[in-house]
Amino acid sequence: MSSKGVIQLYRKFVIPCYKQYPLVMARGKGANVWDIKGKKYLDFFPGWAVSGLGHAPPEVVAAIKKQSKIILHIPNNYYNRLQGKLAERLSRISFGGKCFFCNSGTEANEAAIKLARLYGGLPSSGRDGRKSHRYEIISMENSFHGRTLATLTLTGQKKVKEGFAPLPEGFKIVPFNNLKAVQNAITKKTVAIFLEPIQGEGGINIAKRDYLLSLRRLCDRKKILLIFDEVQTGMGRTGKFFCYQNFGVVPDVMTLAKSLGGGFPIGALIAKKEIADLMVPGTHASTFGGSPLACSAALAVLETIEREHLLRNTKKMGKYLEKKLENLKRKYPFIKEIRGMGLMLGVELKIPGQKIVEKALKKGLLINCTQEKVLRIMPPLIVKKKEIDQAISILDKSLKSL
Ligand SMILES: Cc1ncc(COP(=O)(O)O)c(C=O)c1O
Repeated sequence: MSSKGVIQLYRKFVIPCYKQYPLVMARGKGANVWDIKGKKYLDFFPGWAVSGLGHAPPEVVAAIKKQSKIILHIPNNYYNRLQGKLAERLSRISFGGKCFFCNSGTEANEAAIKLARLYGGLPSSGRDGRKSHRYEIISMENSFHGRTLATLTLTGQKKVKEGFAPLPEGFKIVPFNNLKAVQNAITKKTVAIFLEPIQGEGGINIAKRDYLLSLRRLCDRKKILLIFDEVQTGMGRTGKFFCYQNFGVVPDVMTLAKSLGGGFPIGALIAKKEIADLMVPGTHASTFGGSPLACSAALAVLETIEREHLLRNTKKMGKYLEKKLENLKRKYPFIKEIRGMGLMLGVELKIPGQKIVEKALKKGLLINCTQEKVLRIMPPLIVKKKEIDQAISILDKSLKSL
């Protein structure tokens, strides 16, 4: 079928939730994808951070192949060996908590909201010993946490909420990196502070270490949960398994998805044991969550990151890419700032960036533009120097042709 034919099928039968380029992608390998006509693209925004190990990572493909011959799905009213193993691995490399598995970042955040509300139902330490139900969650301007009603309410961007009122109660949004604003927003009903350590959709905005340290202290003092959404920053993206490890600030709850399954859908919530145990049978569930197939993919991702020393590669290649982007900044005065961590980099422009994305795409490089003026560049953790050089050369030409 031709590109035109596929696009026509979409026009007729697919609900148009997405802005799409007139491009039909057909296959991928490593840092490259090919469209249906055979044109090759260097993918520096693979799967919106899903394909962290690149496209069709052989270890993940082999694991899925092997597991698919054994059993695809086991419902959660029985035990499955791989779910236990994956939970153990995630717990060991993070902060020693317990896991709940689902299928996406939104679902992981929805689970975190529900867990926070269960935590808020615990008897308060008030002298009368009465239950005072705490349910308010404070989140950040420009954050992104998902598209269900609760997670879009948690999200600090107006555009995702438009048309969906009435929204659920109990959410407050404050400016990011502003401790005073959080302090002022706390009430007797506050149960959690929810944030991305680096805002992705928001424009690669990095939390200040002092800010996170202060939030940690504030949460400890007031028995408020600190929840990190690491859906985009997790799984090695910033040069550590989890972004919070760069700051030395440990959350009570963390959510993961995107590259956790190397392209296979899986989301996870990890919570400190005493908090996690508030979720008892009947409080939450996911039919597909933590299937043996999804867990085999995620285990292969974790093993590959370790065996191939991909955290080291991420740091090294991240520095190299950042240096090359800084060179472009010196050349083009409309580049305002280069920022990020590891292989999660943003190029803030003084002008709209979508044209640059389109020019780069025509020349065979896939990147993204968020918040109108921030180019998001997130190559896979396996990226090589020569691929970075190639991407920079295309970006340079695209900027020059403006
Ligand atoms: C930080 C963050 N949280 C949550 C989500 C939602 O994840 P999903 O699209 O898998 O539901 C995203 C998606 O971009 C994200 O970047």
